[in-house]
Amino acid sequence: MYFFRIMLLPFAVLPAVSIADSLIEKGHYIAQLANCYACHTDTENNGVAFAGGRAMETEFGTFYTPNITPDKDTGIGLWKDQDFTLAVRSGLSPDGSHYYPTFPYNAYKNITDQDITALKAYLFSLKPVKQQNKSHKLKWYMSRFSVTMWKMLNNFLQPSAKINPARGSYILDTLGHCNECHTPRNSLGMLQMDKRLTGNESLSAPDISAAILKDWKTEELTDLFSDGVLPSGDYLSDHMAEVVEFSTSHWKQPDLKAAIHYLTTQ
Ligand code: HEC
Ligand code: HEC
Repeated sequence: MYFFRIMLLPFAVLPAVSIADSLIEKGHYIAQLANCYACHTDTENNGVAFAGGRAMETEFGTFYTPNITPDKDTGIGLWKDQDFTLAVRSGLSPDGSHYYPTFPYNAYKNITDQDITALKAYLFSLKPVKQQNKSHKLKWYMSRFSVTMWKMLNNFLQPSAKINPARGSYILDTLGHCNECHTPRNSLGMLQMDKRLTGNESLSAPDISAAILKDWKTEELTDLFSDGVLPSGDYLSDHMAEVVEFSTSHWKQPDLKAAIHYLTTQ
């Protein structure tokens, strides 16, 4: 009898494990496409992956990203699926307060249910890291209340555009949140989507609209997204170098193609 059970065990256990593994693997790829690592890791001070603490200097002050490892005290280990979905897609914390839009949930709002599930499975497969979150150091007028007002106004002025079903749009507009840096903003810090991807001077992010990129060769864009090399032979600097290292260089071949097609045509 025991022998029989032991013989059966691998068959009973294996498929379950591999389904979980493939969900985690998928989540890892989604995290790369969405570049969660870059913001949530204090690479400058050798911080542990996803344990937060990275300082983000902005005109509104300095934000410190939180710990998103599954530690139950200092990370998001106690979060339910719903808490995670609301945070990433709606910028709402489990206590009902609003996150600052430095966390690019305005781009992430169209992440699919399957991808959110995979993302959470991936993050929860990581080793919990005990590291307290640091408080942001913001200008006096910045508060959770001002974010609430900002979000209401932003949602009112920019009702959700129709979702573009192209894979390229999903990779760039939703997961890759390219608009966050490459689209200009108005005086209230809202994206001017009618000038989509035409550049944001205050971040030194150039115009990458189709009007400009259609003159680039496919190989030039491939080199840029794979290795961070510009057609001039120079390497990309600062923020974009990070986007390449942690995100675009991991794009799988069909996604690279879809992204380039979308960038050069839309
Ligand atoms: C551009 C930087 C940036 C990127 C990219 C980013 N985040 Fe964040 N994230 C932040 C900041 C800043 C906060 C804190 C916002 C606040 O305090 O209002 C935050 C908050 C969070 C929180 C809330 C944690 C808590 O303890 O309340 C979660 C969960 C989270 N991010 C998950 C993710 C995931 C998953 C991704 C990738 C899909 C991601 N983030 C990508 C900057 C970023
Ligand atoms: C955190 C801000 C940030 C994000 C997010 C970002 N970029 Fe950039 N990007 C920049 C900056 C800054 C430069 C200029 C870098 C330089 O010249 O060395 C740049 C340069 C580029 C260039 C080169 C353009 C040229 O004329 O030299 C391309 C193409 C590009 N980005 C595409 C993208 C795409 C596609 C995404 C989304 C997957 C993206 N970027 C996300 C900040 C960003």
